[in-house]
Amino acid sequence: MNIALVTGASSGFGQAICRKLVADGYKVIGVARRGDKLQKLADELGINFTFLTLDVTKKDAIESILLQLPKAFQPIDILINNAGLALGLEPAYQADFNDWETMIQTNIMGLIHLTHQILPSMVERNFGYIINIGSVAGTYAYKGGNVYGATKAFVKQFSANLRTDLLGKKIRVTNIEPGLCGGTEFSNVRFHGNNDQAAAVYKGIDYITPEDIANTISWLVNTPAHFNVNSLEIMPVAQAPAGLALYKESE
Ligand SMILES: NC(=O)c1ccc[n+]([C@@H]2O[C@H](COP(=O)([O-])OP(=O)(O)OC[C@H]3O[C@@H](n4cnc5c(N)ncnc54)[C@H](OP(=O)(O)O)[C@@H]3O)[C@@H](O)[C@H]2O)c1
Repeated sequence: MNIALVTGASSGFGQAICRKLVADGYKVIGVARRGDKLQKLADELGINFTFLTLDVTKKDAIESILLQLPKAFQPIDILINNAGLALGLEPAYQADFNDWETMIQTNIMGLIHLTHQILPSMVERNFGYIINIGSVAGTYAYKGGNVYGATKAFVKQFSANLRTDLLGKKIRVTNIEPGLCGGTEFSNVRFHGNNDQAAAVYKGIDYITPEDIANTISWLVNTPAHFNVNSLEIMPVAQAPAGLALYKESE
């Protein structure tokens, strides 16, 4: 395992994963839409990091841009499908349909675009590792989680089904399912730039950090080749599934 491609590398988990993997000695390709942020990361990380300014929802652009990767950054051994977002926290009957579409396009279509493009070369070489970033929202329903949670349920089941299709091949697949993680732009994006509302989410909580996720990935890619972690649910100690809700008519 030598070369990793990380989507969503311009902030949060993706940026921390790039830093950690480069420090561990990997060559890393960072992918995101904001080229200025990726350039800054490239200035910091040096020759073992390169980047592609790319929108993962644009299938045709992905195909052509991957072909332009420098030889030193091919073939891709590790694909980390991390780019994703939540938009809005309204109940389904008040949600903005454009937000729903963007989440589906990014969290589902973006993830399968990259996977469909890169997986055949892993199969050809009988070697590789796909790490998807799902969420606890793919398992536990919460108010306002509607389409976001459903996209992450897709990621969970797609990861499991990939394992099944890849049985007999030396290609590993893991779905990481994080809970509340601070130090990223996740809530700023969810609340459409309302930074006060975003900050309130993390107030008084000892949340997990992007470095926790990056360290987890560093551990995963260093486990022995015969060892597959199918899924990994990670929460801060300050978070727990809180059971089922009841609504009672007044008596
Ligand atoms: N933070 C949490 O509490 C939490 C918990 C569970 C799961 N997650 C998941 O973890 C992943 C990373 O989230 P984060 O917390 O690190 O959030 P973040 O700081 O907002 O990072 C999201 C990354 O995705 C990229 N991205 C978004 N849309 C894209 C597109 N169309 N094409 C390419 N890149 C795109 C963004 O880059 P550009 O804007 O530059 O394109 C950014 O680099 C997401 O899949 C999220 O659902 C987060």
